[in-house]
Amino acid sequence: MRQVLRLFTAALSLSCVGATAAGADTLADHGEVLNIAHRGASGHAPEETMPAFDKAVDLNADYLELDAQLTADGRLVAFHDTKVDRTTDGSGPLSDYTLKELKKLDAGTWFNEKYPYRAKTAFEGAQVPTLRELFEKYGTDQKYYIEIKSPGENPGLTKKLVNLVEEYDLVEADSIVIQSFVQDSLQKAHELNPEIPLVQLIWFHPKGYEAGAPLKEWKKVTPAPNAVSVSDFNAVDEYAVGIGTNMHYKDRQVIDAAFVDTARRAGLGVHVYTIDSMARMQRLIDWGVTGIFTNFPDRLNAVRAR
Ligand code: G3P
Ligand code: CA
Repeated sequence: MRQVLRLFTAALSLSCVGATAAGADTLADHGEVLNIAHRGASGHAPEETMPAFDKAVDLNADYLELDAQLTADGRLVAFHDTKVDRTTDGSGPLSDYTLKELKKLDAGTWFNEKYPYRAKTAFEGAQVPTLRELFEKYGTDQKYYIEIKSPGENPGLTKKLVNLVEEYDLVEADSIVIQSFVQDSLQKAHELNPEIPLVQLIWFHPKGYEAGAPLKEWKKVTPAPNAVSVSDFNAVDEYAVGIGTNMHYKDRQVIDAAFVDTARRAGLGVHVYTIDSMARMQRLIDWGVTGIFTNFPDRLNAVRAR
């Protein structure tokens, strides 16, 4: 299986002519499915806090995945939701909080309460980290896979993010991937710095509620998975080095081996979110995907070691 993957990735490096980002070859030539720690090792520790990122580093994840947003005073922070309610003891929109106010929130205790069997005293009082704190702590040897999250609620986010990854030399170090569901934001990032490897996120869901309703892509980036063609993916390849896609909508499988093959023939990497089942990880590897987002990087490492 490893040999098959290497052949796939070699083919990708030859055919990846649309997007010429610096990290494209790193993504293409890794030779093994990338282990992308979703919101850090967020199955083990509170998402997008230092304990979750530390755990992902300890588990040798290839990338730390995180969602970039802006505070009221324009600071870049790692945070998933547009409201702070679910994962902190605060309430209301993240964008209402200055960094100083956000730092006073407890972003860890919710995890202990929700997952008592994984709770740790050390998680209590965990803070929302800034991206600058993450880059200072882990440096350029660590790779980051950063989502431009909710750009409508975070005006100026793309430019600030590009400026910061440039300030920390993450592009030259091949230590950065930027991802988004929003095509305009990725195209802007590509204009600002065409060397940054970009991943277009897509999400397939049914158009209606009846069983077997046809699927569509959330933001119409591509046609439905059973109708998408190499030329559809070639349009994405103009600015991105890969796609990030869901595998399931609830219990319904939305992509298959043919979908992965079509994207790969267009020269795109295929990264699939968010997979915690080892059986699904193995199936995706057998289909030829090039990366998997997981809350449990240790599980993916175990599958990769088979
Ligand atoms: O970024 C890939 C995946 O994380 C997208 O889903 O909602 O977890 O950001 P979400
Ligand atoms: Ca994300």
